Amino acid sequence: MSIAIKQLHPHFVAEISGLDLRQPLTPEKATALDRALDRFGVLVFHGQDITDEQQLTFTRNLGAIELAIGGNVTKPEERRLSVQIGDVSNLDQHGKVLAKDDRRRMFNLGNRLWHSDSSYRSTPAKCSLLSCRSKPAAGGNTEFAFMPAAYDALDAETKAEIEDLVTEHSLIYSRGQLGFSQFTPEELKTFTPVRQALVRANDFTGRKSIYLSAHIGTIVSWHMPEARDFIRELTEHATQPEFVHAHEWAVGDLVIWDNRQCLHRVRPFKDTDEPRDMRRTTVAGIGPTTPLAAEAA
Ligand code: OGA
Ligand code: MN
Repeated sequence: MSIAIKQLHPHFVAEISGLDLRQPLTPEKATALDRALDRFGVLVFHGQDITDEQQLTFTRNLGAIELAIGGNVTKPEERRLSVQIGDVSNLDQHGKVLAKDDRRRMFNLGNRLWHSDSSYRSTPAKCSLLSCRSKPAAGGNTEFAFMPAAYDALDAETKAEIEDLVTEHSLIYSRGQLGFSQFTPEELKTFTPVRQALVRANDFTGRKSIYLSAHIGTIVSWHMPEARDFIRELTEHATQPEFVHAHEWAVGDLVIWDNRQCLHRVRPFKDTDEPRDMRRTTVAGIGPTTPLAAEAA
């Protein structure tokens, strides 16, 4: 069977058919998916009834697995899934919907802000694969914004201004935007800010992206209010409707997005009433985005 690619948005997003993700992939097909991700940023697959193990095996075709630790406030004994799977559901370790005032729920509300996965790690994620196992009756779409198109639409002056800027990212900043600021000393240590380039280029297409994320808290050597105002302006520009695609989930969908060149966010739903079981595998990036990555913030 050959892979069929159908573009879903004028700028990006491709629906891929002709693949059963439970079956081994030939190296040629794995490379074809990688190139499609470079070009389209988001790949949508339907009717993929897979287990966690099958999802992990498929994910390894795109690179090394990034473990789901250091990115949340869920204690090890509260985990519902293995550390190789990001639990993006609204469920506790017993499969029950998280209570309204549960600290894990408060923290997870940060996924409603436009972000790029793991931009708070010194080597941020390459791509994420999200599998829909159950969904609420309404709401809970995932939206994606395509950063190469947003970059191209900047004026020349702004392109020149941002070219060499370096930003600082942390979960402390993204959660702080929603007023979540009660971190334990261990969490504060785990969430120490890291540095990222604000402009990155795709290795294969050469297209530049604005590397934005809700995790950004400042720009190196800028005053924080000025930096936040500037990042807010850029994010507003980059998430205008013309650059955005909304994915409406069906059980069995699996969506891959390229964190190097897309932003995403989940839209609201009745998360204290209805289960939404979404499981994410994440592919690690190959290195930092700036030589300044490891410098103390
Ligand atoms: C994620 C994420 C959005 C969603 O998995 O990284 O942000 O729709 N999820 O659950
Ligand atoms: Mn995410």
